[in-house]
Amino acid sequence: MQIDIVTIFPDFFRGPLEHGIIRRACEAGIVTIAVDDLREFTSDRHRTVDDRPFGGGQGMVLKPQPVFECVEALELRPREERARAKQAVVLLSPQGHKFDQSVAAELAMVERLVLICGRYEGVDERVGMFLADREISIGDYVLSGGELAAAVIADAVIRLLPGAVGNEASTRQESFFAGRDAAPGRGPSSTCGSGGLLDYPHYTRPADFRGMRVPEVLVSGNHQDIRRWRRRSALAKTLRNRPDLLDGIELSEEDRRLLAENADPAAAE
Ligand code: ADE
Repeated sequence: MQIDIVTIFPDFFRGPLEHGIIRRACEAGIVTIAVDDLREFTSDRHRTVDDRPFGGGQGMVLKPQPVFECVEALELRPREERARAKQAVVLLSPQGHKFDQSVAAELAMVERLVLICGRYEGVDERVGMFLADREISIGDYVLSGGELAAAVIADAVIRLLPGAVGNEASTRQESFFAGRDAAPGRGPSSTCGSGGLLDYPHYTRPADFRGMRVPEVLVSGNHQDIRRWRRRSALAKTLRNRPDLLDGIELSEEDRRLLAENADPAAAE
């Protein structure tokens, strides 16, 4: 995959994309990341990328010309052919569709991904209407610009690329993954397919840290009990922190029993 990030702050990306899994994925040739400086597509002495809004009002608006020329220089296919050519141009803005794991999985299927970072009070609407294929927000809050959002999306997408994460099964076990293992009707094949739930709690040594003990079941060696405990804990945590996620998934008979056990631990006996 080739990712291009279009920004007025190219130095911003020196840090976030040069560590851990992303750095290794770049070194392994799984992904190439280029950061494109919008100011290189300006023609005036001050390298102006913004202007006042038509109709008046506060703040400045990112001009369309540098953004169009920067993306055009990347020589993608025409907009109507991009999906078929496995290319996507994404505008980051708080007005976009909300990003989640399923959008990350969709974007992980493309071969060329362009992330346009918005700035100032906004981006000229023609960028979203005629240049970008989709507009994405990473959440219901306003950042000072799209750079952090682009880094978030690049990270979430890259770790889904085959070979990026050492143990591929582990990306499937994480919170939110609702892939094949979790297809509605099939039920999760194991507690590891978190099936759209939050992940279960993890522990490592020591078993007793300052008197805080690891749940006994995890050191019992009883794999059936461990599986049930993990599934029950994932359900409990989801119910407590993100009950909205439970609406979107099909619970098995066992899940319902485990949820009931959470409500009434005596039922587990
Ligand atoms: N730019 C500013 N806020 C943003 C958000 N929440 N998501 C994506 N881009 C943004």
